[in-house]
Amino acid sequence: MSRAFVILAAGKGTRLGGEPKQFRLLGGRSVWHWSLETARRLRREKLVDRIVLVLPPQMTPALPNGAIVVVGGASRALSVLSALRACDEDEVLLHDAARPFASVPLCRRLIAASTGKNAVAPLLPEANALKKIEDGRIEPLDRDGVYITQTPQLFPRAALRELLENAAPRAEFKDEAELWLQRGGTLDWVAGESVNFKVTEGGDWEMAQKIAGEGEIRT
Ligand code: CTP
Ligand code: MG
Repeated sequence: MSRAFVILAAGKGTRLGGEPKQFRLLGGRSVWHWSLETARRLRREKLVDRIVLVLPPQMTPALPNGAIVVVGGASRALSVLSALRACDEDEVLLHDAARPFASVPLCRRLIAASTGKNAVAPLLPEANALKKIEDGRIEPLDRDGVYITQTPQLFPRAALRELLENAAPRAEFKDEAELWLQRGGTLDWVAGESVNFKVTEGGDWEMAQKIAGEGEIRT
């Protein structure tokens, strides 16, 4: 079973503002580079055969050692599709470059849960009390059974590509696991990790800087 690790780094980072967040420096290297290190470790363990980096169109990067670079699209779906078209591995791990702290053990769990036909995502139980605000009205939201979805998410490459070729660019989904479920696919899950949060807004960036300065990378 061959496997590609895809780092999605073609977003604009509008919510955080400034230079797209994946290119900011975090603990001495770019945010996306943290994911490259994780992918390289997996490759050393022979769990990953190919690393694919998806970048914005205007960027002409030096080819990072051992990774292929593809140009992303205006939507996440198009960015993922570029990556899926560029590789021919049986499986893909799709990862947000904006999550610098995905651990190698998490990736091993995802890979171990793959049957070759299912998708696998890291889920984390929601710990906070939830409220929904609609038309200025605030209502309680039941937290029971609610999970946060993280990346990397594992998919059979050809099957996901087919879904995306038909769905993108009009597709309405937050992540590929959502599309997969909408189309009747089997999704299995492993325990996510709170440190694997997505850098989205200013507070996340501060937390990421603290972790990068004081934490250790788990191997
Ligand atoms: N992404 C991508 N191509 C896109 C949109 C997003 O590769 N067209 C990537 C981002 O670079 C990021 C990941 O998908 O690593 C998760 O997306 P998100 O956190 O929404 O990042 P942005 O879209 O860049 O941020 P924002 O939504 O605030 O503009
Ligand atoms: Mg976005």
